[in-house]
Amino acid sequence: MTKSEARTEIERLTALILHHDKLYYENDAPEIQDAEYDQLRRNLAALEEQFPELQLPSSPTLKVSGKAQEKFSKFEHVVPMLSLSNVFSAEETVDFLQRIRRFLGLKDGQEIEIVAEPKIDGLACALHYRHGQLQIAATRGDGQTGEDVTANIAGLKSIPKKLKAPFPALVEIRGEVYMDKADFVKLNQGREAEGESIFANPRNAAAGSLRQLDASVTASRPLKFLAYGLGQLGDPLSQWADTQWKLRQQFRDWGFATNEPAVLCHDEAGLESYYQDSLKARHEMAYEIDGLVYKVNRFDWQERLGFVARAPRWATAHKFPAELAQTLLEKIDIQVGRTGTLTPVAYLKPVAVAGVMVSRATLHNEDEIRRKDVRAGDTVVLQRAGDVIPQILRSIPEKRPKDAVEFVFPDTCPECGSLAIRPEGEVARRCTGGLICPAQAVERLKHFVSRDALDIEGLGDKILRAFFERGWVKKPSDIFALHAHEVELKTMEGWGDKSVFNLLAAIEKAKDIAFERFIYGLGIRQVGQATSRKLAQFYGDYPHWKSAMLEAQETDSHAAHDLQSIEDIGPSVTKDIISFFAEEHNRDEADMLHTILSIRPFEKIATNETVFTGKIMVFTGTMEKMSRAEAKATAERLGAKVAGSVSAKTDYLVAGEDAGSKLKNAKALGVTILSEEDWLRMAAGAQI
Ligand code: IVH
Repeated sequence: MTKSEARTEIERLTALILHHDKLYYENDAPEIQDAEYDQLRRNLAALEEQFPELQLPSSPTLKVSGKAQEKFSKFEHVVPMLSLSNVFSAEETVDFLQRIRRFLGLKDGQEIEIVAEPKIDGLACALHYRHGQLQIAATRGDGQTGEDVTANIAGLKSIPKKLKAPFPALVEIRGEVYMDKADFVKLNQGREAEGESIFANPRNAAAGSLRQLDASVTASRPLKFLAYGLGQLGDPLSQWADTQWKLRQQFRDWGFATNEPAVLCHDEAGLESYYQDSLKARHEMAYEIDGLVYKVNRFDWQERLGFVARAPRWATAHKFPAELAQTLLEKIDIQVGRTGTLTPVAYLKPVAVAGVMVSRATLHNEDEIRRKDVRAGDTVVLQRAGDVIPQILRSIPEKRPKDAVEFVFPDTCPECGSLAIRPEGEVARRCTGGLICPAQAVERLKHFVSRDALDIEGLGDKILRAFFERGWVKKPSDIFALHAHEVELKTMEGWGDKSVFNLLAAIEKAKDIAFERFIYGLGIRQVGQATSRKLAQFYGDYPHWKSAMLEAQETDSHAAHDLQSIEDIGPSVTKDIISFFAEEHNRDEADMLHTILSIRPFEKIATNETVFTGKIMVFTGTMEKMSRAEAKATAERLGAKVAGSVSAKTDYLVAGEDAGSKLKNAKALGVTILSEEDWLRMAAGAQI
């Protein structure tokens, strides 16, 4: 496919998916099957991967629709959401079955069918369907009162918005919202790269992602849902299923996924062998499970068994033993990241935890070290949380050598000696050395050449470090002067004519770079790919961006307001961008790169000039014919920049119904105000 064909196709797919999103999320009236929709998204994602520069700012792969909320409203569960009792051994499992037999008056050893299924470690959710349509989703909360998270679960593809017929007039499906282990790792890697705090395990990641006030954040997180139980039901249960096993099939028929692999066991021996198999298989599973759940199969028996206190008598959880290990903490060292955060790392005597060798673990920050009371020389208890990140739980005081001293967190950077400060209210201590700090410098260089930035192949961690130590590459711009060391390069161990030629060629090729990748490559704190793209789109090219950022040092300037008005760029990001430009060495380096590289200005999708080209637009109020998302996408396609708030630079304010303060501001500032009809007419005229 040629680039111009790709552009047309990307535009078509973007518009089409946004259209179906609207039908699905806002109108609850999808016109296409999920599979077809998924295929559209996959096609778009594949094209965007091939032509990243053509991705539209409104691309649904960047964001999924959903409405933001002020706070979660409370939701009272009609049928309380209970918890489960636990068993921890084969003996206790036998007792569990015995108690049931006694309760039901069955003979010793009489067969009881039990459904055994994995217990997922996520958070429980209740989904209410009326006439097959999803009405409300609520978290478990304390079991009586949960939170209404309907807007948040809208983005979960595994939660059907409509049940497949036939279905009861009213049904409440219960299950677990969770995150796959691989997605959890990816999410954390991204957060770490952006200097954000990481989640300790998939359960925290799922809970943190679901309980976001801005539902679009939830939608961007890879959450899934598995159904395992019922709450309210409008019909007699027997009309739909008379056993747990059949209910599982019914869940699938309605369009849900169920916990797998599940088995229907007939006795204690069956449960035990399933338990042993699961224990072995748990690490291969896509998601975290912390045990198994055993449920009496027959519903008439479940009913008779009823509940004790807060848990059913007909079910129990067989918990896996926590996978712990003990080892020696040899030393605590400080690692300095790209943005200067000092992270304490524990070096451990290598030990196997849950099947994986562990020799290092993060201690997060100074408060954590104190809270866990760990010192070099201690024997510590380790746990692999989320089966992924090893965690130090605590030290064992009896095994502490007499001479073990408390770790003193440095107040200077161990790499460059600059002051390391901990701003009030923050947990992290940060080096103030900026680019003179070698650790930060190498991390920044790594970031600069990484795939999503300049994408220079052949410059890995070790090589960059070696170049840095030789003084060849101290800052990003030095990379482009490496050819001056060609002869010496060829003499380095493991290097030859060909590899040096390839490296220099890769460097030369990287000079041609899109503006948004350049911004991302600068490694400004909190400025990830999405923010870089927004900045590139707003400012167009480097000279405009730089002069605006210098002007923005003045807090009340137009430039400062503009920066703040860019969607999704909050005060804290604004501050980081402005401080970057406030540093002379950062400005010099960015200028230098600007002369060396050929930075392609942000590629405007509308190659033809339209009345909206370069105009700054703000949308406010409710529009009748077009969702806000669609209006924004259209405006951007026509070359406009869409801002979140009105300033003197705003060219047009499109005011829908019930426009509030933005309309008032715009009037006061003399901004041209368009009605929805005006906008639609002008947009239609511009779209030829
Ligand atoms: S059945 C009456 N089945 O575990 C409660 N729960 O410890 C019936 N959970 O709150 C719950 N996987 O969030 C059930 N296959 C499964 C489960 C499961 C995970 C969670 C659920 C519940 C908690 C109880």
